[in-house]
Amino acid sequence: MNEPKPPLTEPALTRRSFLKNASTAMAGGALLGALPIERFALGASPGDTIRIALIGAGGRGRGAAAQALRTNGDVKLVAVADAFKNSLEGGLKQIQSEFKDRPERLAVTEDTKFVGLDAYKKAIELADVVVIATPPGFRPIHFEEAVRQGKHVFMEKPVAVDGPGVRRVLAAAAEAKKRNLKVGVGLQRRHQNGYIETVKRLQGGEAGEILAMRVYWNGGPVGPKARRADLEKALGRPPTEMEYQLRNWYMFNWLCGDHIVEQHIHNLDVANWVLNGYPVRALGMGGRAYQKGLDSGEIFDHHAVQYEYANGVRVFSECRQIPGCWNSVSEHVHGTKGSSNVGGYTITGANAWKYRGGGKDPYQQEHDDLFDAIRNDKPYNEAEYGALSSLTAILGRMCTNSGKEITWEEALNSKLDLIPSEFTWDAKPKVLPDENGIYPFAIPGKTVAV
Ligand SMILES: NC(=O)c1ccc[n+]([C@@H]2O[C@H](COP(=O)([O-])OP(=O)(O)OC[C@H]3O[C@@H](n4cnc5c(N)ncnc54)[C@H](O)[C@@H]3O)[C@@H](O)[C@H]2O)c1
Repeated sequence: MNEPKPPLTEPALTRRSFLKNASTAMAGGALLGALPIERFALGASPGDTIRIALIGAGGRGRGAAAQALRTNGDVKLVAVADAFKNSLEGGLKQIQSEFKDRPERLAVTEDTKFVGLDAYKKAIELADVVVIATPPGFRPIHFEEAVRQGKHVFMEKPVAVDGPGVRRVLAAAAEAKKRNLKVGVGLQRRHQNGYIETVKRLQGGEAGEILAMRVYWNGGPVGPKARRADLEKALGRPPTEMEYQLRNWYMFNWLCGDHIVEQHIHNLDVANWVLNGYPVRALGMGGRAYQKGLDSGEIFDHHAVQYEYANGVRVFSECRQIPGCWNSVSEHVHGTKGSSNVGGYTITGANAWKYRGGGKDPYQQEHDDLFDAIRNDKPYNEAEYGALSSLTAILGRMCTNSGKEITWEEALNSKLDLIPSEFTWDAKPKVLPDENGIYPFAIPGKTVAV
């Protein structure tokens, strides 16, 4: 294993000998069903201490861990895992500064910080609840392991980037249900009072029969998150391809899913929620008009998809990451009696209405709800709709990348596996740059994307 040096990353903790031999993790390894059941969920009573492990201490991981630590009852962060040491230390420092007045909530020691590509396994061992906020490509692997070890989970969206990943998450979700494990997924609009009330009214017919929806995540670019030249300068050597792609994960489909999956899933999930179902087929177009040259990876910067649902309803979806254009992050319903801006919490027309109630920060609420379910043994499994809304977004990317009409079944049963077969710092991801450092990207009409 060719580990980078500080400040960008450091070798795995040498004091823990078990990590020395643990430098590889096989993607797509043994299927969950074939693995021994290590542990069934331990019920937690309201007074128990709940131990949390954080996997992926980046921007969202720090936030999610802090939200988990602010839930009612005794909660402790006991372990952190990250692929890179500097990300782990940076994330932990931020959590520590937020909990200066409640230091008893932080119980991470040098021995419970785990660095590397298989660090997640050791952190999961120490926890009751695992908070997973790594790039989405790893989600099926990390979720599967948490379920295998019998742990409750909060995992960020999206939960997969391809058909095989969705199937793995669905299988692990079914197993989690069997083992009475509680699973939360970071689609926080489902925990936001205004959304909940608006969707309830739309499902109750307040806008009449729903004919169509429009959903948008149009904004500016998120990546590149890292540049090869900067990494090389900091490391004193060229980064390996695996290091580079993980640092610049947003620009690669196997890690990010493309922004239709990584961001726009929120709006597509609202459409699925309002319509109480999933699309049967889709078609669309997209491409790269802004992203060019070094460090721009392979993702598209715009996608426009038309989804068809079983009852004939169409959902028109747009997502764009190009500066200087019309921006909107929103969902809209058009019905026979009126229309609705769902996230604006309004219905216009025959049953005009506006939500005027309050509500907690949905990022906090989703953790309050999960921990309440754990402490009071309430059914809680968001993994299935998380996986199916991820598939909705993946289906959209398949359509824009290929230029073809694709059915839900084709997307779900897709054999196109984007994930590398091996994870070491020297292993090669499936997408590689040419001699000029430029990556191939999908060409509609030519690319097979399903
Ligand atoms: N629900 C929301 O509104 C919301 C908001 C932001 C991000 N997110 C989601 O959270 C996830 C993380 O996003 P982010 O913005 O925090 O990214 P980030 O780059 O800030 O953090 C990702 C972290 O994961 C680490 N990592 C990468 N591969 C790993 C591996 N194999 N094992 C362990 N650690 C690994 C990275 O080093 C980094 O510290 C994404 O899925 C994203 O979609 C959700």
